[in-house]
Formats: sequence, structure tokens, C-alpha cells
Amino acid sequence: MRLLLLGSGGREHAMAWKIAQSKKIEKLYIAPGNAGTSGVGENVALDILDFQGIKQFVLQQQVNMVVVGPEVPLVEGIVDFFAADEQLATIPVIGPSKAGAQLEGSKQFAKAFMERHAIPTARYMSVSADELQDGFAFLDTLSAPYVLKADGLCAGKGVLILPTLAEAKQELASMLNGSFGDASSVVVIEEFLSGLECSVFVLTNGTEYKVLPVAKDYKRIGEGDTGLNTGGMGSISPVPFADQAWMAKVEERIIQPTIKGLQTDGIDYNGFIFIGLINVQGEPMVIEYNVRMGDPETETVMLRLKSDLVDLFEGVATHTLADKPLEIDERTAVCVMLVAGGYPGAYKKGDKITHLKSSDQTLLFHAGTTLHNGDVVTNGGRVLAVSSYGKDREEALQRSFSCARAIEFEGKYFRSDIGFDLV
Ligand code: AMP
Ligand code: GLY
Repeated sequence: MRLLLLGSGGREHAMAWKIAQSKKIEKLYIAPGNAGTSGVGENVALDILDFQGIKQFVLQQQVNMVVVGPEVPLVEGIVDFFAADEQLATIPVIGPSKAGAQLEGSKQFAKAFMERHAIPTARYMSVSADELQDGFAFLDTLSAPYVLKADGLCAGKGVLILPTLAEAKQELASMLNGSFGDASSVVVIEEFLSGLECSVFVLTNGTEYKVLPVAKDYKRIGEGDTGLNTGGMGSISPVPFADQAWMAKVEERIIQPTIKGLQTDGIDYNGFIFIGLINVQGEPMVIEYNVRMGDPETETVMLRLKSDLVDLFEGVATHTLADKPLEIDERTAVCVMLVAGGYPGAYKKGDKITHLKSSDQTLLFHAGTTLHNGDVVTNGGRVLAVSSYGKDREEALQRSFSCARAIEFEGKYFRSDIGFDLV
């Protein structure tokens, strides 16, 4: 297998690390990749939205599978582009069609999908600019806090939670007036749900599916989930409340109706479904769908996946997923993200990183790094995902901390409470 993985973050390094271990892999390319992915495959300077450029590369290098890390190429239709091209049509792409990617690309679409297929989620109303008064009236029926979501992709920044009705109305008006550009020309207003969240990852070919290890991510910059939102400060897997009984509910009420719903709606889906769940008094409800793996959840999920990931991808491509074994490591995995000083506000790039030392128990997945004159230097707000195994959370955390403390770059910061709310 000659495989091309698209993306450049910690998620892609973790996937590349796992893919590279497959006996089925002859060559792994990562586009554009980062300093870490260059250690497990070959980085290629391709723009992941330049589908013609990707086509040339795939044909030249006889790539026979493409795996899409982030959502944007999927929402832009890379799967449909391959399917419609005579030379590319037989090359499987792991990721949903453009229609399937709407589960993430449009919150309104996702809510209507859940409503249509009776999948438990928060009560909602979707409004456009000429329906502002209807939106206000719906807000009047809800109680604080208020949840407003820009319909389109906003790089994870399109959800606002407002403490008062007055602020919610003001924000609704400004969103519909373009405060998130086109992405908020439609806004989903939602009832607020309260509970612990977790991320469930399903790999599917549209009929068969496998449920990967459940993880939980930590988005706020400060300990105890305080301060500004980030791209993710860490993750943990497994998640104690997502036990067998709870996951049985998830499978019956959410995963199966989702797969069935895709079939009923005639949507091709060969890839990951990331279901963001909230545990409302013991009952799972859907907060959101994403159409890719999560970051930084992947950095713990890959540690716990014992099966050959490429074999599972082949199961997707050849519709034999049900026959593939799924083996999960019983250990706990924890990811502690090292970020640049100032993040998620302004931060520097180009700082030299030293003492990058991994072990059997602690993997270093690069998120925002690049190579400069032979040095590994910072190249993003989230710099390194320090991911460890442990017999429990404490042991895994201690391993990540001792590695995190040893690594040096200017302004390094990390949270030391990953998993705090689960104990
Ligand atoms: P998203 O950008 O869709 O991942 O949403 C960001 C975060 O907003 C989620 O992870 C939740 O913590 C929160 N959120 C979204 N919808 C709701 C809701 N209906 N009730 C409570 N919190 C929500
Ligand atoms: N960790 C959340 C996400 O990837 O969207």
C-alpha cells in the first residue's frame, strides 16, 4: 500500500505513527506534515485544498489510498473530486462525500438530520437574517445560558454560550449580520445541556462500522476548565462514565440511527464519524458531529488501538469492515499538549525545541513544529502532544509530565489537570 495522509497537526502525526506500523504499508506520504511526521513517513509540500495538485502527485507516485485528516478538504468535496475523475475513481479516499461532510459543515444540516432520524440532541431552531424576530421568540422560551452556533465552519470558534437573554439577542442579531462572515448567515439556537462530554469515534463504510476507544478532550487554556478556548490542551482515554452500559445506549440510540440515517438519505460515507456527546443525567445526547478524527483525542485513541489501522481502512474501502478485528489496549492513555507562550492569543513561532525524547511509554506527537536548518522549531500555538500509557490516569499523567518538563522551548506551557473531572 502506498498511502497519502493529508494534514499537518498532532492528529496527523498520531495517525501517521499508527499507519507506519502496518505491515501493509510500502510507502507513507504526509502532506504537508510537520517535523514529527517526517520521522515516520515522507512529507510532501502539497496544499491540501489543491485537488489538481493532489491528483498529479497521486498518479505520479502511484498512491493507492488517501486518508484525509482535517475537515476542510472533505467539506470542499475531495471525495467527490476523486469519484468523478476517471483516473482517480478506483483510489479509495477515507473520508465522507461532500454530502456526508455536511454533518460538520452545516450545523443546521446536522440538527435537521438528527431530528429526521430521531437522534437525541438539544432542542433547537435554525434562523436566517429575515427570521430574527422568530429567533428572539424562541430564545424567550429557553432558559439561561443560551447557545448560539454559526451554521458554517468556523475552525471551532462558531459556538457562543451567553449568560443572559439580552446578550443572546444582541449576539444573535450580530451573527446574522455577519459577525462570522457567511458562516453565520444562518444561526442555530439551542437549548443548553449540562453534563460531562466525551468524543466517540466511529469508522464506517456506510453500512458496517467499528467504534474506536472513547476519549475526552480539554479545550480551555486554564486548569479546571477556565479561561479561553483553545484547539485542545489534552485528552484522555478511556472515559469512565462511558462504560459498557452507557455505550450500549450510545450504539442503539445514536450510532446505529446515524448510519441508518445516512443510508436512508442516500449519503455515501467511507470514513470517520466523530460524535460529540454529553451525558445528561445518564442519557447520552449529541452535541455535534464532526466528519474526521478529533484533535487532540486522536493522540490518545491511536495509542489504545492495537489493530492495524490500514487493515481497517481496507475494510472500509472493500466493504469488509465487519470481518476485521478491532483490538483495544486496556491501558489508559493521556495526552498533555505543550503550547507556545501567549496561546490562544498572540504567540511566537520559530523557537528552537530541545530535549525531545520519547520512550516506549511516552510518544511525542508533533502538532505545530517544523524543521529549520536542521533544528526542530515551534510553528504553531499547539506545539507538541505528549502522549503516555499508564495503568491508570495518574501513571500516564506522571509519564507525560516528566517528559513535558524535560522538553525545552521558550514560553512552554501545559495543563497538569487532564482528566481531573473524571475521578
Ligand atoms: P462545538 O464547537 O460544536 O464543538 O461546541 C463547542 C462546545 O460548546 C462544546 O464542546 C460544548 O462544550 C458546548 N456546547 C455546544 N452545544 C451545547 C449545548 N447545546 N449545551 C451545552 N453546551 C454546548
Ligand atoms: N477535539 C475537538 C475537535 O477536534 O474538534
